[in-house]
Amino acid sequence: MGKTTAKKYIIPRYKTRIVGVSNTPISLISKKARMRELQRAHYNPFKISSSDKIFIDLLTASGTGALSKKQYHMSMRESDESYAGSLSWNRLRESIREFSGKQDIFPVHQGRAAERILSEIFLAPEDVTVSNGHFDTTEANFSKRGARPIDIPALKTSTAYHAQFRGNIDIDELRKRLDSPMSNKIKIILLTLTNNTIGAQPVSLHNVREAAKYAKKFNKLFMIDACRIAQNAYFIWRDEIQKQKSIPEIIRECFRVADIAYMSLKKDGLSHMGGFIVTNSAALTHAVAEKIKNVKKEIISGEGYVTYGGMSGSDMEKGAQGLKEVVRFTYLQERMNQTAYLQEQLVQAGVPIRDDAPPGGDAVFVDAGKLLAHIPPSQFPGKTLEVALYEEGGVRGCEIGSVMLGSRAEVETLRLAIPCRVYAKEHFDYVADVFGRIVKKKNTLSGFKITFDPGELRHFDGHFAPIE
Ligand SMILES: Cc1ncc(COP(=O)(O)O)c(C=O)c1O
Repeated sequence: MGKTTAKKYIIPRYKTRIVGVSNTPISLISKKARMRELQRAHYNPFKISSSDKIFIDLLTASGTGALSKKQYHMSMRESDESYAGSLSWNRLRESIREFSGKQDIFPVHQGRAAERILSEIFLAPEDVTVSNGHFDTTEANFSKRGARPIDIPALKTSTAYHAQFRGNIDIDELRKRLDSPMSNKIKIILLTLTNNTIGAQPVSLHNVREAAKYAKKFNKLFMIDACRIAQNAYFIWRDEIQKQKSIPEIIRECFRVADIAYMSLKKDGLSHMGGFIVTNSAALTHAVAEKIKNVKKEIISGEGYVTYGGMSGSDMEKGAQGLKEVVRFTYLQERMNQTAYLQEQLVQAGVPIRDDAPPGGDAVFVDAGKLLAHIPPSQFPGKTLEVALYEEGGVRGCEIGSVMLGSRAEVETLRLAIPCRVYAKEHFDYVADVFGRIVKKKNTLSGFKITFDPGELRHFDGHFAPIE
């Protein structure tokens, strides 16, 4: 195991104000009722309704966080729902400028819309994009344009590998590809911060700067997927630059070296919906600056007007305030400590963690393949664990393994994503207890088969059944 920073106490920086209004009640239905729910849902937890049937929901941390009082106030009382020139847009745009240091800001309804728009503008069939890890929607959007996304994460054998920054891109491999005959096909170098694809692991500032340097040298577009850039900055602050820069300064330094960046406000925007694309047009090459003008056209045809891009005024107020709150040190420390605490409790309960990695950003990645070594990938150990977790304790996680990724799955994992500002230490203790019970009876668990396969994205809609 790598270094962890779990603290004995995780003290949330808030307290309950109005029970039943600012809190959502959660109910633990009986085991019998949970088994009935599973059968009704064809063993697919995406088909189970949330707080009345799910006790602790760790399906995703995207758009599922709690609002702050200020976010609530601004979104309910101050939002401006004007179609054009909304004051809420003005506030969001200023907040994004402050957060990113970039001047040209384009709104979209969520991160994948930014991916779609940028791929429409910058990619053509046969183009190649290279990344530390394309997120699955990024890969889908780039592939839809006929482009070929290639992941080159730093592996243990490469010089860019760093035990605390396992999300890094392999710089040697990047240089090799840029020097090769296929170089002219490479159109975008993309860094995803943090690297969700390999377990929410961070990327070092050194790695970001190196990738940017080579992109510039070889005249390639350097992009950042900034979904969790504040969490990533926290790791840089803690483990790389020994606290010499503030979190906002680190974030702006990452944005500064990117030609273009995009971000889903559902993650580090601490919002329920929204996203944006940013750039400094004046600093782009003439050809790229000409192309970026098309973002507005794409927003108008697919998202809405350029002063809301698919977001309501209320969404924009949440994002404007969320970007101010996410850079606060106390917030980030509490969030990272929650992840570290849950991971540490699970390890103590005998649960293996993917790659034995230190705690990453917003989620713990359980190695279901290792825990349930008697179940082969073809019988979906991640799905087995996902079902067992709900059956045993009403906890919902998300399989990221052979169900979700098919033959592309390298590890059979169950992701436990932690919504921000939602759960307390006791909730994590409970989850660890449930895992402890599962570990004890793991050899009695058997695999699953698919009874309805909708093809692409089957984890959302597929039907499953236990193998008797
Ligand atoms: C790294 C990364 N990029 C892009 C996206 C897509 O963002 P959205 O869900 O807002 O469309 C996600 C979503 O989880 C993500 O994790």
